[in-house]
Amino acid sequence: MTATSATTGTTNAALQAWVDEVAALTTPEKVVWITGSDEEIQGLNDELVAAGTFVKLDESKKPNSYWAASDPSDVARVEDRTFIASEKEEDAGFTNNWMAPAELKGIMTDLYKGCMTGRTMYVIPFVMGHLNADQPMYGVEITDSAYVVVSMKIMARIGEPVLRAMEEQQASFVKGLHSVGYPLTDGKADVKWPCSDTKYIAHFPETREIWSYGSGYGGNALLGKKCYALRIASAMARDEMWMAEHMLILKLTSPTGSKHYIAGAFPSACGKTNLAMIDPTLEGWQAEMVGDDIAWMRFGKDGRLYAVNPEFGLFGVAPGTGENTNPNAMRTVEQGNSIFTNVALTDDGDVWWEGMTDEKPAHLTDWKGNDWTPESGVVSSHPNSRFCTPAKQCPMMAEEYDEPNGVPIDAILFGGRRKTTVPLVYETRDWNHGVFVGATLSSETTAAAVGAVGVVRRDPMAMLPFIGYNAGDYVNHWLEIGKQADAAKLPKIYQVNWFRRDREDGSFLWPGFGDNARVLKWIIERLDGSGEGVDTPVGIVPAPGALDTTGLDMTEEQVAKALEVNAEEWATELGLIEEWLAKFGENLPTQMQDELATLKANLDA
Ligand code: GDP
Ligand code: PGA
Ligand code: MN
Repeated sequence: MTATSATTGTTNAALQAWVDEVAALTTPEKVVWITGSDEEIQGLNDELVAAGTFVKLDESKKPNSYWAASDPSDVARVEDRTFIASEKEEDAGFTNNWMAPAELKGIMTDLYKGCMTGRTMYVIPFVMGHLNADQPMYGVEITDSAYVVVSMKIMARIGEPVLRAMEEQQASFVKGLHSVGYPLTDGKADVKWPCSDTKYIAHFPETREIWSYGSGYGGNALLGKKCYALRIASAMARDEMWMAEHMLILKLTSPTGSKHYIAGAFPSACGKTNLAMIDPTLEGWQAEMVGDDIAWMRFGKDGRLYAVNPEFGLFGVAPGTGENTNPNAMRTVEQGNSIFTNVALTDDGDVWWEGMTDEKPAHLTDWKGNDWTPESGVVSSHPNSRFCTPAKQCPMMAEEYDEPNGVPIDAILFGGRRKTTVPLVYETRDWNHGVFVGATLSSETTAAAVGAVGVVRRDPMAMLPFIGYNAGDYVNHWLEIGKQADAAKLPKIYQVNWFRRDREDGSFLWPGFGDNARVLKWIIERLDGSGEGVDTPVGIVPAPGALDTTGLDMTEEQVAKALEVNAEEWATELGLIEEWLAKFGENLPTQMQDELATLKANLDA
């Protein structure tokens, strides 16, 4: 075994002690402290090219950009290998896998023993949110993957300035330990995408630690994102009366110049990034992105909820992203400085994926490295293939993104993929009703997680895989948040469903994408008091004619179909909601039973 050597160190005593401890356990060849400099990242990109992990794209097509293909088994989050290891099992609740921290740490310590042999151990200081926030949210990821380092550089604020601030403040930080779990013992040769069949994505909420082993995929390996900013942060937020949510943040300016900020919680691969980058089809409306995946919300001095996007980059689903659906995403990645994983490679050194262009290229190298033609009969890109790109490159990034204390949220949307039942949009009566709609949110599963696709499951606030504690306590936390402010200051809550299908021909009832601005317009009119709505048993839907369909190729009848609250469908839904709420057992806040009773009574009436 080679002796461990460090290129530098830190005066943050807790950090230095932890780095030494991990190095002693994992026995890397060397330890490198990541500064985040351009030269350093360039060096790592070059190493990744030499290792075969990266293919450099043509500089004239996508400057400073790389293509990577993962091991075919390592393409998405692994929810059944994800653990919330709180001291007590009941604190993890029924939505999480649980193991006692000591037991899980025992198992994982054995796995980590010598796991970085022959590799470099990188230490990445990072901050989620702004370095000059009132309370900077520090983290350090230790990883043996250069792919993770260069991805973290895009996704979070990392490196030298963060470490210096952590030293000055002797700041505490979230510890994230990551290994691909592929030691190069006895001179074993490396592979393009090292990973392990044994995977653990472990969270210790009480000690604010993350231990990840065996996967290189973004959601499992870039520990600042889902692991810290959602699972660990949700537990912090409960303790400190704020919110860590799986939400996009969008700024909308109406033709008269009024500004609104909207947050939206949709499960993975259900349209957050697309809505955050919307190109409105309505004349005079301007949209700007603040965030596309995660919102941290705190009460401001004025009693309103303010949201910040803690991230620095976008990690978007590639397939379905094209000139017609999401031109802003195309403008963002065109500027380069991006990593594309599990998409297809064109013969002239560019990338392609299903939905990018109407016409398919005549020949590609698909994500598995095989020759591909339109006749191949398979998709060229994995359904969960991703672009990883700097947020600041997005041409419609709002200047408020740089506001350390965030933007005041006017409305919260809950959405998911539902072929039936859930109308295009409806408004909830009040905060508690909105919490009920969020707590019973459902969606068809997607390729963003390993497992069956297209199965309806309940996904509270789109946080099912990300709640870092007991789901009943999480719903209760939402209710508590609602008690902290006057009703008039709280965001109004809506449910949306861009994915409803025609019962006859199975086609989407709503065009979606840029036309979703029509739904947002109605919501803003409701906030301003001018939008007309009609009561239904589930909530308030747009009155006939209230939804602006100018220039849309849709009949009144089709719009009505998209907005329909169907008695039969809701009778079935009610049963499913009851079944779901029963799972919370004694942890279900009584207000949810009250809301259920109201829904039942409304449907019976
Ligand atoms: P995220 O993971 O929640 O950020 O989801 P994305 O915005 O990346 O979208 C996931 C998939 O849903 C992509 O394939 C999109 O093309 C598709 N999608 C997003 N918005 C819409 C919409 O309004 N209508 C339809 N039909 N598809 C959408
Ligand atoms: P997303 O999540 O699909 O919500 O963008 C990324 C992930 O898979 O971790
Ligand atoms: Mn996304």
